[in-house]
Amino acid sequence: MTIQSSAVAFDNALADNYSLVAFNVITLEHAQAIVWGAERAKTPVILQLSENAIAYQRDASPLAAAMVALAADASVDCVLHLDHITRDDIAHKVADWGFSSLMWDSSTLPFEENLAATRDMATWAHTKGVWVEAELGEIGGKDGAHHPSARTKPTEAASFVAATRVDALAVAVGSSHAMAKKSAELDLDLIADIANHVDVPLVLHGSSGVPDPMLRDACSAGIRKVNIGTALNLAATSVIRDVLSENEALSDPRRFLGPARDQMADVVAHYLELLATPRS
Ligand code: 13P
Ligand code: G3H
Ligand code: ZN
Repeated sequence: MTIQSSAVAFDNALADNYSLVAFNVITLEHAQAIVWGAERAKTPVILQLSENAIAYQRDASPLAAAMVALAADASVDCVLHLDHITRDDIAHKVADWGFSSLMWDSSTLPFEENLAATRDMATWAHTKGVWVEAELGEIGGKDGAHHPSARTKPTEAASFVAATRVDALAVAVGSSHAMAKKSAELDLDLIADIANHVDVPLVLHGSSGVPDPMLRDACSAGIRKVNIGTALNLAATSVIRDVLSENEALSDPRRFLGPARDQMADVVAHYLELLATPRS
């Protein structure tokens, strides 16, 4: 068990009929919590670094190196992935950082322009052995505005995947990013319809807002990668609020970051046990 490529991780998941769960890393504590939670669940896991998280780090090399070190020492398979990348110069760092895959996000562009930009990125990435996820049908919430009504059209998904040759497709099926409540309603029939039209794994973004039973149903319908970010941050910040309000004199960050990390590891183990174990 060690660093695993997305290509092999998805082959394994398809063969054994489970979905992969990807968690967003912002700090070292997130990365530790993700690996420790996965070790507890005894399942593979994807650690992903978004373009916004990279911007927050200014230079993401130290955090990326920590992710590589944690993944290399893990007792389970860990995939290292870049999430929501819109800039070529950041995409081109993927291999330098020791990551095997990236999500190219030109989903805000009109269909033809999204297709052309995605095809160019996938062509470059495949010459480097990098696996590429792309998005069709803009999933809301990245800009703070929720529009869970966006939908990916199955026939467009088919032509988009064929023309771009991407390895996975993120689809708009009722979820929205950054939801603090699990109130999203997924269009399960649409997921199954898209899955029948394309032969690459489907990815659900904004999964923190989806109730657990619906996440399982979405995986049964064809979702093969579930992205979780906000649920980790909600867990961490709620513990930090509690610890600090109980002790206003506290100044040692280990006293609130430690419990926050434990809470995030619990969330990670929960989602992996729910989704990353073989479906009967
Ligand atoms: P949430 O933050 O809404 O869970 O979304 C995560 C995600 O889609 C990462 O790409
Ligand atoms: O897609 C959403 C992820 O949680 C990453 O969010 O772009 O704000 O880092 P972010
Ligand atoms: Zn996302």
